[in-house]
Amino acid sequence: MHDVVDSLGRRFHATETATSANDRSQLQAAVDAVDLDTPGIGNAEALREVDALYADNAVWFHHPSYVAHLNCPVAVPAVAAEAMLAAINTSVDTYDQSEVATLMERRLIDWTCGHLGFDDGDGIFTSGGTQSNLQALFLARENVMAGLHANADSTTRTDAARPELLSRLRILATDQAHFSVSRAAFLLGLDADAVVTVPTDVSGRMDAEALNATLLAIEANDQIPMAVVATAGTTDLGVIDPLEPIAEACEAANVWLHVDAAYGGGLLWAPRRSHLLDGISRATSVTIDFHKTFFQPVSSSALLIRDSRLFAPTIHHHDYLNPEAEAQSHEAEPNQVDKSLQTTRRFDALKLWTTLRARGANEIGAMIDTVCDLASEVRKLLDGQADFEVLGASDLSTVLFRFTPATAGAAACDELVPMIRRVLFRSGRAAVARTTIDGRPWLKLTLLNPDTSIDDITAVLDLVRATGHGILAGRHITTEGGAA
Ligand SMILES: Cc1ncc(COP(=O)(O)O)c(C=O)c1O
Repeated sequence: MHDVVDSLGRRFHATETATSANDRSQLQAAVDAVDLDTPGIGNAEALREVDALYADNAVWFHHPSYVAHLNCPVAVPAVAAEAMLAAINTSVDTYDQSEVATLMERRLIDWTCGHLGFDDGDGIFTSGGTQSNLQALFLARENVMAGLHANADSTTRTDAARPELLSRLRILATDQAHFSVSRAAFLLGLDADAVVTVPTDVSGRMDAEALNATLLAIEANDQIPMAVVATAGTTDLGVIDPLEPIAEACEAANVWLHVDAAYGGGLLWAPRRSHLLDGISRATSVTIDFHKTFFQPVSSSALLIRDSRLFAPTIHHHDYLNPEAEAQSHEAEPNQVDKSLQTTRRFDALKLWTTLRARGANEIGAMIDTVCDLASEVRKLLDGQADFEVLGASDLSTVLFRFTPATAGAAACDELVPMIRRVLFRSGRAAVARTTIDGRPWLKLTLLNPDTSIDDITAVLDLVRATGHGILAGRHITTEGGAA
């Protein structure tokens, strides 16, 4: 353990590139060269080997030139807590496997509910936003099926009625909602067209008027609006759907409102931006990823629900873990497995707990403000440069832009986007992402490192520009577009 800490300590200071210097075939050869069937080589040698194989070739999220996806550098106290929880190997499924760990997780859930304004709330830590979203929609489905939510007639809620009801369930979200929403619909056995797209305004935020119209159309079609998914921090544009009017529409229609705040949830603690989440207290459920905007190591996410009774239709009892008879007794033990999709489950909450105690929520919140400020500064910088085009204005910390030199036509600029990303990635000099908005490709920066400066980003933009010119000069593509 000490050797690993020493090696990582050195690497965090010395690592010069965000990605591996080796290409995929070299990495594959190095992985294949390890014989997993030989006798053990001993702890020290095995750790030296993985240090050379993994750490030498890792993607380093703390590096200032890593600006690609929603990955953050991690708080050191959380890393120490990670080692502690792994060594003790607690499983927060039943109380008799976790004791104080369950109480600590529940306290953090209450703390998060308090910040959301969920006075009677509850929740559970999960493996990530994908699982939190799936579970939110599972809860919505089961509460609707049990006749406890939405307007449909509860007398029809029999097992025989399930298939017919399932086929009528609809989830409303914009085309900017995370793909885990449609994947959850698929996993939950809903119809192929169960996710109905609500139009957005020009900024990519859900159009609340259009939501009202879509809800009416769904009900007129004899379909059941199972849930509305609003996104607080869309993955690409980084914008927050208008939560107050969306909540209004959902309350009027008695529809489950899930707010996917996987990315934006950290704003709750950001002193200068928490108002951006006004209205979130009116949600029925909320996803928050602490491993995105709270500087936690993967995994650390939570699903929070406004009313603890909403878990009821999904609770299962098993004699060897959480017997039903005991659940009814006044001495019932708090078994988190009641509420989780997982059985054996990591005590990820310890990392958040330790970070909060070590640094305080305000300090973390200020760091979230810092990365959002940096994104605004980068957008201004790009706006002032004739050979770059910028899209939108994130509420959070993404920046979408393209390299558009006067010498290249629109089609060539489109082609440059994935090529610049690939060339930079392979060179190890910078990791930027790419995405497509309304059919047009864009480069994307996701800024989540409070230690990254505007000079660091200027250097990345200079690399983007130089790479773009290099590709054009190398005639990998023609200046009018089309592969040469
Ligand atoms: C808005 C949003 N929701 C959900 C997710 C999924 O989170 P995870 O990767 O933790 O499963 C993401 C991931 O980027 C996201 O941006």
